[in-house]
Amino acid sequence: MYKITIAIDGFSSTGKSTVAKRLAKALGYIYVDSGAMYRAVTLFAMEHNLIHKNQFNKAQLIKQLDAIKISFKFNKKLGFAEVYLNGQNVEKKIRTLEVSQFVSQVATVSEVREQLVLQQQSLGKDKGVVMDGRDIGTVVFPEAELKLFMTASAEKRAQRRYDELIERGDDVSFEDVLKNVQSRDHIDSTREDSPLAMAEDAIKVDNSNLNLDEQFEFIYSLAKAKIAECN
Ligand code: DC
Repeated sequence: MYKITIAIDGFSSTGKSTVAKRLAKALGYIYVDSGAMYRAVTLFAMEHNLIHKNQFNKAQLIKQLDAIKISFKFNKKLGFAEVYLNGQNVEKKIRTLEVSQFVSQVATVSEVREQLVLQQQSLGKDKGVVMDGRDIGTVVFPEAELKLFMTASAEKRAQRRYDELIERGDDVSFEDVLKNVQSRDHIDSTREDSPLAMAEDAIKVDNSNLNLDEQFEFIYSLAKAKIAECN
């Protein structure tokens, strides 16, 4: 059976990864969270004192890019692949609000993007992949057979993210999470290199008023139809 490439792009906290993981599992495809790769580079920059409030040593980060090795290892218990930075599992560390506050800046660096895009293309070279991010349908896999673009209101997205962070035990305020969502929307959509944009041939999914099951069923039916069309 011919396997397709599924690109899921959209604003932050639109639930891309939740639906992408579930879709990959249902189809027997691999799932790649490209945002996790930008987050891992950001964590590296933070741990090496290359980024702080009001200061980002871009030149040093570019110099040290070769020292950053990102990999994914499937965790059977969780049912998805966790991200590793230089051999260390950083799945939890990359999800903090602190990393979220710096990641959009790191994602503006063309040298970082170039390297991560190559890795992403290599991870999806055999097809049978569901990858989520901001530029998957436009830059990483412009030939993807199915492209989705997820949106929801900033308030809905911030509420989902806030609930997740509180559940993990993080001490954050809703206002800070909302500010972060809005600021990332702005940086992600206005950066020069590969800004967040909907590919011309993408299908827009506004999930402000859809629950997880409704959203999944809709996307799963699109994927099955596309797979049938390609076989
Ligand atoms: O999907 P996420 O929120 O974990 O992504 C973190 C950041 O990484 C996001 O603010 C933008 C950036 N990103 C990107 O520029 N390109 C991608 N393909 C994925 C994420």
